[in-house]
Amino acid sequence: MYSPFPAARHHARSRRAAIVVASVGLAAVIVGAAIGMAARSSTPTAGPDQSPPRPQAVASLPVPEISAVPATAFICSLPSMTDALATANVTDVIAATGGVEQFRRAVVVGTHKCVLPDDPATVWFVVNKARPFPDTSWRPNDLVQPATQAAGSPHLRAEAAAAFDALVTAAQNEGAGTIALNSGFRSFTTQVASYSSQVDAAGQVEADHQSARPGHSEHQTGLTADVVPCGNGCGTLDNFGSSAQGAWVAENAWRFGWITRYEDGSTGITGYTSEPWHLRYIGVELATLYHEGGYHTLEEFFGLPAAPDYIG
Ligand code: DAL
Ligand code: ZN
Repeated sequence: MYSPFPAARHHARSRRAAIVVASVGLAAVIVGAAIGMAARSSTPTAGPDQSPPRPQAVASLPVPEISAVPATAFICSLPSMTDALATANVTDVIAATGGVEQFRRAVVVGTHKCVLPDDPATVWFVVNKARPFPDTSWRPNDLVQPATQAAGSPHLRAEAAAAFDALVTAAQNEGAGTIALNSGFRSFTTQVASYSSQVDAAGQVEADHQSARPGHSEHQTGLTADVVPCGNGCGTLDNFGSSAQGAWVAENAWRFGWITRYEDGSTGITGYTSEPWHLRYIGVELATLYHEGGYHTLEEFFGLPAAPDYIG
């Protein structure tokens, strides 16, 4: 009887080697499928001399244990992934997923439970009117003050603070002028006061377009910076969009891991009017992909429903 595996048929050692190769090969295919990539087939075709294709061990040899492992569990239980998730290091998590676009797609697909945008400790956490903090008392444990100029004493998470300093320094060096941090981390309790003052000043309908209700503000992540332009003294948040600093930030913030979270024209998705001063840190890899992909909201970037209104 014809067999495409003459070597395996006649040599048990070669057959065992082929099984190992097959197992590794199938695992690679499973990983690729799990992260949403089209598998690059290595299936050979007959050459110009029409000789038979080389043996395809993966397709023919039994490797039941590996094929029985669900792809999602496989990705999420990779040691590189569990190690990366333990420290919430986005660079390492992206590497464990296979690349930044693969990571984004894994979040979009939603089947990879370990990388859902639900954990406030990660830079890919998405909070909006439909996605409150899972725990209202949540607060980061690595808050620091940025080294560069700040109006008051706002704090950011350490990684965001370093990225903020890099952004401010580059803006200065590239001729855009001085940028100062006006508001960074805000606890749930602080947001109660902030939202309440907006309601008192403008009424609830208008306040809901400008200020997040407590438990729904990105400021509680410690990854958000409200910024003002400074010269002889510092301007206000409302001055930022029309300033040289605002123009520079709109073009360049992504280089340092920041995005403008509430852009003009996105109210139907975010529920907030334009806030050119409200920057959100998501890390350089994701911010670069966001910029290059022409995204305007995190909801679109991660395939989440629009959240213009509160639920209930
Ligand atoms: N101004 C934004 C929406 C906030 O309060 O978080
Ligand atoms: Zn803000």
